[in-house]
This record gives sequence, C-alpha cells and structure tokens, in this order.
Amino acid sequence: MTSVGFVLMSYVFFFFFLSVGRCQLQTGFYASSCPNAESIVKSEVSKATQQDSRLPASLIRLHFHDCFVQVSATGQFVESVFFVPQGCDASVLLDDTSSFTGEKTAGPNNNSLRGFEVIDTIKTSLESSCKGVVSCADILAIAARDSSVITGGPSWDVRLGRRDSTTASLSGANSQIPSPAFTVNQLISAFTAKGLSAEDMFTLSGAHTIGQAKCSSFSGRLFNNSGSGQPDPSIRQGFLKSLQSACPQGGDATALQPLDVATATTFDNQYYSNLLLGRGLLNSDQVLSTTVGTARNFVKAYSSDQSKFFSNFAGSMINMGNISPLTTPNGIIRSNCRVPS
Ligand code: HEM
Repeated sequence: MTSVGFVLMSYVFFFFFLSVGRCQLQTGFYASSCPNAESIVKSEVSKATQQDSRLPASLIRLHFHDCFVQVSATGQFVESVFFVPQGCDASVLLDDTSSFTGEKTAGPNNNSLRGFEVIDTIKTSLESSCKGVVSCADILAIAARDSSVITGGPSWDVRLGRRDSTTASLSGANSQIPSPAFTVNQLISAFTAKGLSAEDMFTLSGAHTIGQAKCSSFSGRLFNNSGSGQPDPSIRQGFLKSLQSACPQGGDATALQPLDVATATTFDNQYYSNLLLGRGLLNSDQVLSTTVGTARNFVKAYSSDQSKFFSNFAGSMINMGNISPLTTPNGIIRSNCRVPS
C-alpha cells in the first residue's frame, strides 16, 4: 500500500472506531446481564453519603476527570493495533505501581480527587452479583448521576456500555483538565477540545454548586491576583475578608472552603447567583459572570431559572459521558478498578 493509501486507511479506521464508540452506549445496557446494576450503585452511593456528605461532589468530579483525559486526539499505533482516543474509560481509577504510572499524581488530581474507596465497594458488590459484567467506567457514570439526585439535583437516564482501559495518561491528565486560573476563552477551548460546547462548559461548571476546594486552588486571588499585589477586584468585600481569614498567606494550603458559599451540600442554582454577587470561589467560576458576553448571559439565565439549569445539566452530563468511551471490541471489564487487568 502507498503511504497515502495507508494514511487514508488509518483515518477510515480511526473515524469508524470513534463513531462506533459514540453510538454503542445505551440506556438499560445491563437489563439482562446485570439487572440490579444501577440499584446496587445507587444503594452504595446512598450508604456512603450518610457517612460523608461531601462524597457526591467527589464522585461527580471523578467522572469528569476520567472523561476529560484522552490519549492523543489523532490516535496512535501500539503493537499494530489502532487505538482510539480513550475518554470515559476509568483510567483515573488506576493505581500507580513500580511498572505502571496512572493519573492519580497529576497536578489536578493529586491529594484532591476522592471517592476511590466507595468505587471499590460498589465494584465488590457488583462483582458478587454479576461477575465480570459491569465496567468501572460505567460505575463512575451511574454514581455521578446518583450523586446529583441524592443532593437534590436532576436525574437522567445514563447511557451505558463503556469498557475499561488498560492504560492511563499522566501527561494527558496534566494537560487536558482545565485549570482554575483559566479565562473564559481558555475554558471554552478546553471543552471544545473534547467535543463539548461552550454551553456545556457554562452548564457543567454548575457542578460547583456542591463540594469543596483547597485554599491552594484559589488563594492566588486573595492577596496577589495575577502578580498585581492586590486581591482580585471581582471578589465582593465581605466574601474576600472571610476567605482571607480562612486561607491566610503562609497558612494551611489544604484547608477547605465550599465551592458554593450559600448552599454547600445542596445541588441547586445558587452557584450562579453567587457569581452575580462576586461570591465565586475559583477564578474559573467568577470569570463566567465578569466576562461580558454569552457566559454572563447563561449565568443570569440559570440564576433565575433552576429548572432550565437542571435540564441542561442532565443533557451536558450525557454529552460528557459520551467522550470517546471504549466499547466492544475495545477495552476490558476490570475486576478491580485500581488494576489494569
Ligand atoms: C470548567 C472547568 C473546571 C475547573 C477549572 C474546575 C476546577 C476545580 C477545582 C480547582 C476544584 C477544587 C479542587 C481542590 O481544591 O482540591 C474543583 C472541585 C470540584 N469540581 Fe471542578 N472544575 C471544572 C469543571 C468541573 C466539571 C465539569 C465538573 C463536573 C461535571 C466539576 C465538578 C467538581 C466538583 C463536584 C468539585 C468538588 C469535589 C469535592 O468536593 O471533592 N468541575 N474543580
């Protein structure tokens, strides 16, 4: 085959596998192979949330950090097999070993992602009911939906059928997960790079209606914003004072503050109202309302219409869960979500 023919064939295979991956997810995927799969996940998420009210937030974030890391978007040849980009593939759950490097030590994940033990518990329970059937990537997707519901947020039918990777990408986790220091344009670019829209970004940022962030994720705004020697002027005075006292210079960088200062454990549209009042915690939150244009219009619309936010959030979570899943014949069903075999 000529080199031009070879490249053309590569593209045909690439887009074939990509489209197969996108089409194969379906609701009710485990209806006959593991009919109780979704109720098992729901019950374990509920039990674990009784012990730890932050857990739903941590589980939603795990699904996001799983889906956003793909191998090279142009694919790569490994041992003569053409690999598709892997998004929602449970790569985030893989532990480092002496011979394997996963994503857990990446900057956005290290000492920050949580909920791994609950995923282990869910997996053990599923393995004892239906051995080798339910993927870790699907567990993350179902648990994210259940986490929204249990905190008062929307529900949606989760499309299933993802399979698990045997690989992970530390460099991908470092470069593809958006930074809290990003501008609106950088945030939009990070989402469009995953096939999501600007609207998906405005909407999914609303997941910050629950959960916590470490001082180190936003303290740059409090005293010396972008090297100006001054706090970020978009932070409202009273809120600034309370954040400065919770996260003093030279203080504990791992101390936590709620992402939604008003209703920290309830999934609602308060996050957007906070932004309009200069009470966004992360720079990447606050810029959605201070940057004049579409982002601000969405913030205003969602702050006055919770049902619009909820229905769009459900749709955007489905879009995020569709980022390049591995589907048959690719990937595996791991028996232990931490181990690539
Ligand atoms: C738009 C770009 C985003 C940026 C820059 C961002 C950044 C962050 C940061 C820095 C934290 C705090 C981490 C820490 O201090 O330990 C955080 C927490 C969180 N993020 Fe995001 N995030 C983004 C989008 C999303 C999306 C799309 C979701 C889910 C759909 C999400 C869900 C969460 C949740 C629920 C938490 C709290 C987790 C917990 O309490 O354990 N984020 N995010």
